[in-house]
Amino acid sequence: DSLNDKYRPHYHFTPPSRWMNDPNGMVFFQGEYHLFYQHHPYGSEWGPMHWGHAVSRDLVVWEHLPVALEPDGNGMIFSGSAVADSRDTSGLFGGDPGLVAIFTHADTYPASGTDAEPEAEERPRQRQSVGFSADRGRTWTMYEGNPVLAEPELTDFRDPKVIWYEPGGHWVMVIAAGDHVRFYTSPNLLAWTFASEFGRTEGSHEGVWECPDLVWLPVVDEDGEDIEDAEDVENADDGERAEEGEGAEREGSWVLIVSIGDGLPEGSKTQYFLGSFDGTAFVSSSAEQLWLDEGRDNYAGVTWSDIPQEDGRTILIGWMSNWRYANVTPTGAWRGAMTIPRVLTLRSTADGLRLCQRPVEELKALRGTGERRQEIAVPGESRHELGFGGCAYEIEAVFEPSGAAEFGFALRRSADDAQETLVGYATAEAELFIDRTRAGESGFSEAFAARHGVRLRPEPDGTIRLRALVDRCSVEVFAGGGVAALTDLIYPDPGSVGLALYAKGGEARVRELSFWPLETRQT
Ligand code: FRU
Repeated sequence: DSLNDKYRPHYHFTPPSRWMNDPNGMVFFQGEYHLFYQHHPYGSEWGPMHWGHAVSRDLVVWEHLPVALEPDGNGMIFSGSAVADSRDTSGLFGGDPGLVAIFTHADTYPASGTDAEPEAEERPRQRQSVGFSADRGRTWTMYEGNPVLAEPELTDFRDPKVIWYEPGGHWVMVIAAGDHVRFYTSPNLLAWTFASEFGRTEGSHEGVWECPDLVWLPVVDEDGEDIEDAEDVENADDGERAEEGEGAEREGSWVLIVSIGDGLPEGSKTQYFLGSFDGTAFVSSSAEQLWLDEGRDNYAGVTWSDIPQEDGRTILIGWMSNWRYANVTPTGAWRGAMTIPRVLTLRSTADGLRLCQRPVEELKALRGTGERRQEIAVPGESRHELGFGGCAYEIEAVFEPSGAAEFGFALRRSADDAQETLVGYATAEAELFIDRTRAGESGFSEAFAARHGVRLRPEPDGTIRLRALVDRCSVEVFAGGGVAALTDLIYPDPGSVGLALYAKGGEARVRELSFWPLETRQT
């Protein structure tokens, strides 16, 4: 039983064994969500990359399938995407629909191992290739024309994400190229034409650019409903261009997501840009540096392709780790977990449009018998034990404005108070944070034990609403309607199951609180 492993998550996706990094090739096809992932099936550290594979009907229960793609004469299988080729634009499926994976074939690095700049012909090559499946992803064939896209002058050229651009009736590939992303277009997924590039002077350049994604997201109001202004003809063209969509003009924006490898003080992190896209070029409208998640462990996240229009959600999943210490986390025979799947939207805030994230609704199916509390006063410098807790649950609370300098949850607490993880809000700094300095095991990396925060404005009524999803080795926090997200790994003792409210520098008041244990439904 894999759950005997003390850190193995109860409801987060993990590989059946061995190493996992980036999520790859997420696509919905004929009733199934596919999730592929960077996988070393023979080692618990990064190594020759394969694509591991799992499917789910609900994004909650995953069935592991055999490795889908393995290294061949063109190299290792790095990150990439998959699409449903519903109209057989590739001609690979005899007129039927099929699945096409577009990924990076990466040559092994030169054996010489010198520090000198390798000769051109010795340099590792990253080229884009295609694999396809005519049997709902169960078996995969390499396209015989691989690679389908090469740029010999680029050393870093990887992680193609392909989308269908409906207004132009063509495919678009966004791909990382060292310090920028490039856009290519194709009628058939096999022949690609350079269209444009973006980013040499925009955004963070403290690490190599990786794993881009390009999505159009609707602006939602406070209740999570799309804002539709189709009826209102007078206001229909108010600058915020409505793209695509049949019938109703939905307010929204294009968003370019780009992950940054280990170069920032924080290690690996994911940035995003708001902007416009015309089918060939992206133009950024973001003035500031924007980050998808201010925790340390949400990297290389990209979204599902081909979610049916009647669903309409854009769903992202990230790799819950950081290159700073990914290879040394204390998990044993398996290493690497995904975040929970998250719905992405945009919200209009006092700072402008911002990306919002919320856990997919399907996770509610895991909820066991809940607890509800109201009107709790938490005295300063105290822990108010809730009398329930555990190692896998969801907790949500509304904190009222009060004199407390800091307040929040103290979770995964040991009986002797030595271990706990704080999910808190510091009033003066207006900062939401996770403090994992005393969370548990941390000796494997000096970068691990720390506090990570993000600025968060109170709700219009002055309250702070915190939602946390806790599992055996992680905590994910959402606040401000999903504008603020923090994802951190933690490695507490299995027996650290206490859960409390805490306050510092004054009394905190909780208006209401809900708690649900989240049960294991993995196969
Ligand atoms: C991101 C990344 C990708 C690459 C893959 C290799 O974490 O470095 O750029 O394709 O991992 O496993």
